[in-house]
Amino acid sequence: MRCWPPLLALATLLLPRSYAYTLDNCNNAFFDSVLPTNASTLLTSQVPANGSFGQAADIAYPTNATNLPALCAVIINVTSSATSSYTFGLFLPNEWNDRFIAVGNGGFSGGINWYSMGSVVPYGFATISTNTGHNSTGQNMDWALNNPEAKTDWGYRALHGSVLLGKQVTNAYYSSSLSYSYYAGCSTGGKQGMQEVQMFPEDFDGVLVGAPAWWSTHQQLWQLTVGITNLPENSSHFIPYDMFQLMSDEVVRQCDASDGIVDGIIMDPKKCNFIPQTLLCQPGQNTSTCLTPPQIETWNTLHRPIADIHNTWIYPNFGLGSEAQMSSSFGNIGTNAPSLYGTQYVANYVLDDPNWDWTTYNYSVVQIADALNPGGTNAVNFDISPFHARGGKLLHYHGLADGLIPTGASELLYNNYLYNMTEKNIALDDWYRFFLIPGMQHCQNSVGDAPWYLGGAQTLANVTGVPGFEDKEHDALLALMDWVEKGNAPDYIITTKWQNDDPKQAVVRQRPVCKYPGEATYNGYGSINASESWSCVSSIP
Ligand SMILES: *[C@@H]1O[C@H](CO)[C@@H](O)[C@H](O)[C@H]1NC(C)=O
Ligand SMILES: *[C@@H]1O[C@H](CO)[C@@H](O)[C@H](O)[C@H]1NC(C)=O
Ligand SMILES: *[C@@H]1O[C@H](CO)[C@@H](O)[C@H](O)[C@H]1NC(C)=O
Ligand SMILES: *[C@@H]1O[C@H](CO)[C@@H](O)[C@H](O)[C@H]1NC(C)=O
Ligand SMILES: *[C@@H]1O[C@H](CO)[C@@H](O)[C@H](O)[C@H]1NC(C)=O
Ligand SMILES: *[C@@H]1O[C@H](CO)[C@@H](O)[C@H](O)[C@H]1NC(C)=O
Ligand SMILES: *[C@@H]1O[C@H](CO)[C@@H](O)[C@H](O)[C@H]1NC(C)=O
Ligand SMILES: *[C@@H]1O[C@H](CO)[C@@H](O)[C@H](O)[C@H]1NC(C)=O
Ligand SMILES: *[C@@H]1O[C@H](CO)[C@@H](O)[C@H](O)[C@H]1NC(C)=O
Ligand SMILES: *[C@@H]1O[C@H](CO)[C@@H](O)[C@H](O)[C@H]1NC(C)=O
Ligand SMILES: *[C@@H]1O[C@H](CO)[C@@H](O)[C@H](O)[C@H]1NC(C)=O
Repeated sequence: MRCWPPLLALATLLLPRSYAYTLDNCNNAFFDSVLPTNASTLLTSQVPANGSFGQAADIAYPTNATNLPALCAVIINVTSSATSSYTFGLFLPNEWNDRFIAVGNGGFSGGINWYSMGSVVPYGFATISTNTGHNSTGQNMDWALNNPEAKTDWGYRALHGSVLLGKQVTNAYYSSSLSYSYYAGCSTGGKQGMQEVQMFPEDFDGVLVGAPAWWSTHQQLWQLTVGITNLPENSSHFIPYDMFQLMSDEVVRQCDASDGIVDGIIMDPKKCNFIPQTLLCQPGQNTSTCLTPPQIETWNTLHRPIADIHNTWIYPNFGLGSEAQMSSSFGNIGTNAPSLYGTQYVANYVLDDPNWDWTTYNYSVVQIADALNPGGTNAVNFDISPFHARGGKLLHYHGLADGLIPTGASELLYNNYLYNMTEKNIALDDWYRFFLIPGMQHCQNSVGDAPWYLGGAQTLANVTGVPGFEDKEHDALLALMDWVEKGNAPDYIITTKWQNDDPKQAVVRQRPVCKYPGEATYNGYGSINASESWSCVSSIP
């Protein structure tokens, strides 16, 4: 299979046309008149063109969305049970493209993601985000303690409810029916997207998901496990977090050429036979520049899939090439404890025991978590045939250098879907495509100047789409829209890397990422930094 280089595919998709609406309904009374009795309007605000909007009190997302088109900003509060409620924000642009989009959240944070909303509203979408039912930063789960309703709101209820009401309010505001609905999110936002596909297939026509934390119970306990593997800090096997860069450099040194091109980018880590012993400390060597034998064993354990003592498989582990970001999966140096993503999760979300001592962690906690699936957060219903039946399109990506959610978690999810759909005789290619992005870290940034930016999702600051490359080849959200609305399925997406990840500076590199299990391969001529020098080649003989 060969997909022709992008230069030949010059056809660009212009941003969908937006129409100006005369809108005098940007007031609380109007929205209240549309809402059911269990919801009420907290705020409306007319934002002028090039204005900004946000809430300093939104501790998860305090950054204002800026350079906005003229729009009506709204905050709505919804009662979700006798003891819980959630809010959601809407941006309703004066020039509307007839479409609706919801953006996702990150970590366990609770807050309206105004910032991400601001990056997609300039396309013309009526845009929403929910606070997921609580108010906290990403690693704080105090709000969940003994609070099953709040767990359910974070788990899935707040997003789905916000989507239903958001659509209703949008249609009423414009006195018109929206034509298409979309979703974009990464990490927890990716999990939210997968849950929508699995649980509420009618919500979206197109879903753009990055690095989904889809298997919450195992993802969070993996985070705990890897932290414990490295601890305690005073042991001989402990790898200080600032040494992971050394390992990253060695992985790139050994693996870069495995794809035939020496450019600092490992196109397929599976092609590399990495040997960590090259970092073994020599007699007299400064130990902050090398690894001792127990540290090398720790490195090996951190890259082996996690299993319990009976060899029951639990979760994939760090991918080769993710070392530069691995340290963010551990706790803070000096605390001698694993990441709060693991400890807070068990104490407040699974066991409801704020005094839980992580040093007692054992396999039974995994079993308890799975049996409870607290908040219904796991996205583990792999029968997504209802989403297929309603004509939904799913575009899923994951960075190959992700140090927070192992790339293997997405490969596992893809395979679970594949097994399930194959049993039902439903081929995936027409409606679900998966893209692995070489060198990309967790939802943003990359190792070795690898191009990673693909627009649409919550990625670069203050940017809508892919500046200078506003077409479906370079912008995953435009690719998804073209797929949903015109039936053109994307074989590849061209990712971009700017100097300092700043779109006002020079483009350093662009390269296609190919639909799984394909791989971009150098044509043999032209600059390796130009996308047209690469073609998609299936990695299956
Ligand atoms: C938009 O606002 C910023 C300040 O927030 C200002 O620097 C810029 O000139 C404005 N642009 C336009 C087109 O008005
Ligand atoms: C953010 O937007 C709000 C209005 O939504 C405004 O009151 C506030 O001044 C803005 N903050 C900054 C730092 O621009
Ligand atoms: C969130 O909680 C903080 C206190 O931790 C408070 O200052 C802030 O107003 C709250 N934000 C919202 C949107 O309720
Ligand atoms: C939302 O409504 C609930 C009642 O269901 C109330 O307890 C809560 O204070 C309201 N939230 C805000 C931010 O007004
Ligand atoms: C709010 O009330 C409507 C009916 O008025 C109901 O369909 C919906 O489920 C309720 N929403 C929540 C979050 O309780
Ligand atoms: C590490 O610290 C613990 C107490 O925090 C102590 O019991 C143990 O002996 C120390 N181990 C080493 C190898 O220093
Ligand atoms: C060991 O290397 C580290 C990092 O390069 C340096 O900061 C430290 O001073 C060195 N220690 C010795 C004893 O040379
Ligand atoms: C394993 O964890 C469970 C749940 O916290 C705890 O009740 C049990 O005592 C632990 N077992 C051991 C041997 O520590
Ligand atoms: C498909 O998914 C459903 C729902 O999760 C499950 O019951 C079934 O066992 C799965 N089938 C396969 C072949 O994985
Ligand atoms: C976004 O742009 C605003 C001004 O337009 C600026 O104040 C802010 O720092 C920018 N944010 C980031 C993260 O670049
Ligand atoms: C490609 O980009 C890299 C990294 O920015 C740079 O070092 C190299 O000189 C570029 N090569 C070409 C052929 O442009």
